[in-house]
Amino acid sequence: MQIFLMNTRHLLARNAAEKISFKNGIFGTLYKNILDTITRATMKTSEELKNIVREKYAEIAKQDKAVNQASCCGSGSSSKEVYNIMTDDYSEMEGYSNDADLGLGCGLPTQYAQIQPGDTVIDLGSGAGNDCFVARHETGEKGKVIGIDFTNEMIQKARVNAEKLGYNNVEFREGDIENMPVSNEVADVVVSNCVLNLVPNKQQVIKEIYRVLKSGGHFSISDIVLTGNLPTALQEDAEMYVGCVSGAIQKKEYLKFIHEAGFENVVLQKEKPILIPNDILKKYLSPKEDDSFNNGSTGIYSITVFAQKPGTRKKKVKISELQKVTCSPGSGCC
Ligand SMILES: C[S@@+](CC[C@H](N)C(=O)[O-])C[C@H]1O[C@@H](n2cnc3c(N)ncnc32)[C@H](O)[C@@H]1O
Repeated sequence: MQIFLMNTRHLLARNAAEKISFKNGIFGTLYKNILDTITRATMKTSEELKNIVREKYAEIAKQDKAVNQASCCGSGSSSKEVYNIMTDDYSEMEGYSNDADLGLGCGLPTQYAQIQPGDTVIDLGSGAGNDCFVARHETGEKGKVIGIDFTNEMIQKARVNAEKLGYNNVEFREGDIENMPVSNEVADVVVSNCVLNLVPNKQQVIKEIYRVLKSGGHFSISDIVLTGNLPTALQEDAEMYVGCVSGAIQKKEYLKFIHEAGFENVVLQKEKPILIPNDILKKYLSPKEDDSFNNGSTGIYSITVFAQKPGTRKKKVKISELQKVTCSPGSGCC
């Protein structure tokens, strides 16, 4: 996947080039050259996007929770209003560690993951270890938790946190979740909180999850998805990308990737609309665009999705307990 983050100026230029009507002969070549030049100059490769994400999360690893929470997914676009636009409250969960909670999640995947004592759990994009320590509470000392993150500063922070907590069965590995540093069929459960939206090749991550899960194992993942299109100015902004908004894909496509990878029992366990604060929106949209976005049909959702790799597992998942919870904006249910 090669695309993302064209800025408006270049998009306009591209549109202008596309309006050139001569598509054959010398004009055709000219047309193609203009488009190629614009494309090369404006599109970010997957590696460039990953570097932007890594740099931003290295910075975030050094900030505290209060700064991160007043923004989208810790992107630092600080809002003047006081709310957490994505983060759910972890503090009541058993195993919670305040030092590991940087306010970067968009759900509570560990709450829905049916982790059992003795399980091996992998957390994708583990940050400072927030979900890993909650998962460790469930696995107990006989289980194992592996956090994977590609930002060295996050890995360092998570390791310090694990040491403070005295856990010797929680390990943090530095690596890209598109190519996980884990052998085949290791995990009983995979969790992840607000990370796949940041990854250029989401389909590859889902295939990797399938590879590392044991037969009959499952995942519970919280993430951001969309219905409808974001306004161009939001789509193209780097802060909105690292802020977990513009890297999100359509909910339908996300679920399709999961089915296509071979998973079964796919259940949307939770769905919560995300409202981008007005003061953030105003930075990107004209009053007219802002109005049409707020009154339009585009939706940004935090979802928690469960799916199982075919096969039998000794410890059975309680399918009846994978219920869907839908929250309306402002209901406070999440
Ligand atoms: C929004 S934060 C969530 C952190 C953690 N899950 C939490 O809830 O606190 C996203 C994390 O994913 C990591 N990340 C993003 N893309 C990644 C990739 N391709 N491979 C590994 N880690 C990645 C970032 O470094 C960052 O720590």
